[in-house]
Amino acid sequence: MTDSAKPPTILVIDDDAEIRYSLTRVLSSRKYQVIEAASGEQGVAMVKKGPAPDLIFLDVRMGGMSGIEALQHIRSANPKQLVVLMTAFGTAQTAIEAMKYGAFDYVMKPFDPAKVLALAENALKAHADLRAVGDYKPTVNIDDYREGIVGSSSAMQEVFKTIGQVTASDVTVMITGESGTGKELVARSIWKHSHRATKPFIAVNCAAIPDNLIESELFGHEKGSFTGATGQRLGKFELCDGGTIFLDEIGDMALATQTKILRVLQAGEIQRVGGTETLKVDVRILAATNKDLEEMVKAKTFREDLYYRLNVVRIRMPALRDRGDDVPQIVDFCLQSLVKQKKARVAKVSPEAMAVLARHNWPGNVRELENVIYRSAVIAQGDAILVKDLPAEIRGTIAVEPVGASSPPFEQTKTAAAESAALATAKVVADSVAAGEPALSLERALDFVHAQLAKSGEPVLPRVEDEMVRRAVAAAGDDLAAAAKVLGLTKAVLQKKLKS
Ligand SMILES: Nc1ncnc2c1ncn2[C@@H]1O[C@H](COP(=O)(O)OP(=O)(O)OP(=O)(O)O)[C@@H](O)[C@H]1O
Ligand SMILES: [Mg+2]
Repeated sequence: MTDSAKPPTILVIDDDAEIRYSLTRVLSSRKYQVIEAASGEQGVAMVKKGPAPDLIFLDVRMGGMSGIEALQHIRSANPKQLVVLMTAFGTAQTAIEAMKYGAFDYVMKPFDPAKVLALAENALKAHADLRAVGDYKPTVNIDDYREGIVGSSSAMQEVFKTIGQVTASDVTVMITGESGTGKELVARSIWKHSHRATKPFIAVNCAAIPDNLIESELFGHEKGSFTGATGQRLGKFELCDGGTIFLDEIGDMALATQTKILRVLQAGEIQRVGGTETLKVDVRILAATNKDLEEMVKAKTFREDLYYRLNVVRIRMPALRDRGDDVPQIVDFCLQSLVKQKKARVAKVSPEAMAVLARHNWPGNVRELENVIYRSAVIAQGDAILVKDLPAEIRGTIAVEPVGASSPPFEQTKTAAAESAALATAKVVADSVAAGEPALSLERALDFVHAQLAKSGEPVLPRVEDEMVRRAVAAAGDDLAAAAKVLGLTKAVLQKKLKS
């Protein structure tokens, strides 16, 4: 919120006196102080002279300086100035230009008073939220992560330890885990730290290559060995001699090919398709899958002997939802790498948005989180990602923890950070209900608030009561009698509550 008790100032720039009048009336019905300018030129002059208004409603079509021109002048004078454009002509061109030149949003005329008020409130809230983010302390620094693998959860510490243990030898490693958990990243890390680092690393996605081509891909073929084999071709194993081959999605490999991989593992030998010569190769094999190989062995779709050969060391990649506090670290890491690659400019995240990200259950794991961060960083209008910038499916699927869920009792989890995250999230839910977000029903929101407060150890009733009283009073514009009626209290009781 604004630091002083002063009401927010809104500047309305429109050459149509009637529009200025009606907008002023709508906005003054709330605690906004409205000032007016009758042309683009006048509006720009007022902004340059200062003090800067908290928000500007700016008409697109005006005699003299156009709204888009005025927008550019205003934003170059004050890059943080919030501007909402107004137009009677909803063309794609206007919308694109408006957003390109940094408008917060735009509204269509004739406008619906409720929408204008909601827009003003959202814009000012975004503004306040951005200011509240202020100094941002990222949880990690990209320069400390040359490996590209981020995470300090105990599950990831185990992964790092195992990587360290297997780099010195040529042992076969099986990496398992859900999609997007970083299996390939780990395979590359093992290779980079091994004595084979100067020799090739070749990744073969067994699921992406048709069964009839995979053997030729892996072992090569002789000229004329099958239709289309017009010349001799070397396979990945030969090309990778001395290096490391990463057999990704090995659970999708045909049984016949599995037999040949077993031979490489046992004897270090291959034969090109259609060839008779036996070739020696020196290749380290790393494999990965998100399938349940044990089940496949039982169903005889995966060779048991190969399974044991591959599974000498197993690295189980934890799902992101089981990685505790790793989400903020990955978020900061992703943002810093986007900025470094000049794909985005935003490097901060509001605490509320971070709380929403930390609560999502990430079925697509780190890959999904990376995509979400990229999308949000691109559409964020300020210098921080706010809740409103997150994709709707992330905002809307805030997990509702059933009360007394499997989480440990709050004595164990109640840290200052957990508490503030819980409260921030409760606030997000309350706000999205207030904004009429369809994805969150009141029922779910109440469940959630209850669970969060129970976990944070804060007594539920006083907190919820305070929130409701605050909302009612704000909505009634300080008309205590009206607020009391909404709350179902007498005015005297409400006054007493306000005092306490
Ligand atoms: N711990 C991590 N820190 C930072 N980035 C990560 C981490 N884990 C994964 N990533 C990133 O997430 C994306 C997915 O990782 P990767 O391709 O290694 O997953 P995968 O387990 O092989 O997925 P799939 O099973 O779908 O092939 C990559 O862009 C990778 O850089
Ligand atoms: Mg992969």
